[in-house]
Amino acid sequence: MSAKDKAQQNGKDHVIIFDTTLRDGEQSPGATMTFEEKLEVAELLDDMGVDVIEAGFPIASQGDFEAVSEIAQRAKKATIAGLARAIPADIIRAGEAVKHAGRPRIHTFVSTSPIHLEHQMRKSQEEVLDIITSTVTLARDLVEDVEWSAMDATRTPIEYLCRCVEAAIKAGATTINLPDTVGYTVPDEIRDMFKSIREQVPSSDKVVFSAHNHDDLGMAVANSLAALDGGVRQIECTINGLGERAGNAALEEIVMAVKTRGDVMPYYTNVDASKLTRASKLVSAASSFPVQFNKAIVGRNAFAHESGIHQDGMLKNTSTYEIMTPDSVGAGKTSLVMGKHSGRHAFKTKLEELGYDLSDNALQDAFVRFKDLADRKKHVYDEDIEALVDENIATAEDRVKLESLTIIAGTHGPQSATLTLGIDGEHKTVQSTGNGPVDAAFNAIQQLVPHDAKLALYDVHAVTEGTDAQAEVTVRLEDRDLGVSTTGRAADPDTMVASAKAYISAMNKLEQRRVRGRLMPAEQLAVSDRRGP
Ligand code: KIV
Ligand code: ZN
Repeated sequence: MSAKDKAQQNGKDHVIIFDTTLRDGEQSPGATMTFEEKLEVAELLDDMGVDVIEAGFPIASQGDFEAVSEIAQRAKKATIAGLARAIPADIIRAGEAVKHAGRPRIHTFVSTSPIHLEHQMRKSQEEVLDIITSTVTLARDLVEDVEWSAMDATRTPIEYLCRCVEAAIKAGATTINLPDTVGYTVPDEIRDMFKSIREQVPSSDKVVFSAHNHDDLGMAVANSLAALDGGVRQIECTINGLGERAGNAALEEIVMAVKTRGDVMPYYTNVDASKLTRASKLVSAASSFPVQFNKAIVGRNAFAHESGIHQDGMLKNTSTYEIMTPDSVGAGKTSLVMGKHSGRHAFKTKLEELGYDLSDNALQDAFVRFKDLADRKKHVYDEDIEALVDENIATAEDRVKLESLTIIAGTHGPQSATLTLGIDGEHKTVQSTGNGPVDAAFNAIQQLVPHDAKLALYDVHAVTEGTDAQAEVTVRLEDRDLGVSTTGRAADPDTMVASAKAYISAMNKLEQRRVRGRLMPAEQLAVSDRRGP
């Protein structure tokens, strides 16, 4: 197939989906992901047909560098991009991180708007033009595929933006991204901006134009779709719309808008939409950002019908109130059939339906835990099974394991916890009190495993409905000396048990990071602060 045929399918143009969940998304306050979580998200993005994965900002920290580099080595199909400011050291580091990818890309950016030039960069327009030429040239010396972004493009005068884009193309950029960094533009304006640039800049037909829209006014997706009409063929977006401030354009909304309204938008994407729900859940769990119930495409109510009139219509014909089927986005209806009578085969099939591919040992382990849960809980929903499997990751290396926990709570404090942990295979028991049962449990852990890590986040939510629902607890611990934080997650019908398990999981991960840290050369340990662009 020729490049032109590839870009066209049934008369429709291909829209490149560039996912920046692991960079712009992960950069949003509180959304930090661990190394393992990033690998898992990247693997799913690659598998579902995302064309470009922006895996991180390699100069930001040793952890970011390692994650980008590992993702680059593991990616099967996707282009792997690393972000770099317009600084030679950044670009070299990004080139180093992506170099083992089958398709490496360096994404470098500089601000172009008068506001940024005057107040942030303190540089003249001519100086910025020189920077564009030298940095894009350097990036092109390292890789063939270079994306250049004009930060705050939508607040940049069009004449100057044209000169910047021309300089970037001349220096070898292959993709030109014009972000709406502050979420300020509106659909007509962004469409016209791309049209004018493409009409005025020489050789603009030789590059791909890209949109990167933030959602401060709630128009990121609308602006991205309007940009397609202006000639853009790459959209930058994130799962669940994660990202700086109000977030970025949501990948699942872009993909489904293009798919569902092919009658008015002659485009297609390579993304397998049936994996969208799984991706949403994975990113929500890894980032600890819950998905709002009424979120388009992936919210738990996106395919729920409550009103009598709607239910009546749905029973007669689903097209009365549904423009897409839940199946098409992988949101199979919650099923009640899994219970204590279900066998291993049914359990395995259910896991496959939910998108898991477990080894025999992991499957057996998950099955034992499922049976245990089914004995204690009337209905085992898909979400319960997902929580149970997600919780079970990487416990083999854990030094500390929860053996038993008894809590005495009620109106007359102090509440107390009796806790037994297995520490390096030895059983240790302690009794502790606290200001509430969770505090008592955490104090008991601290007594048995003294440590300096600070509790940076404690979050509880019910995985499913009902008073016998599993509680899913997220705990984030921060080791300020090491400059890292780790997240532990656990689910259990008993909130206190889930809390203790989540705390212990975060502590074990911190311990693993410390051990890895000890094995690293000292200069690599100087984890810089993780502020992104
Ligand atoms: O919003 C923005 O301008 C960015 C750039 C770094 C592409 O995220
Ligand atoms: Zn951004």
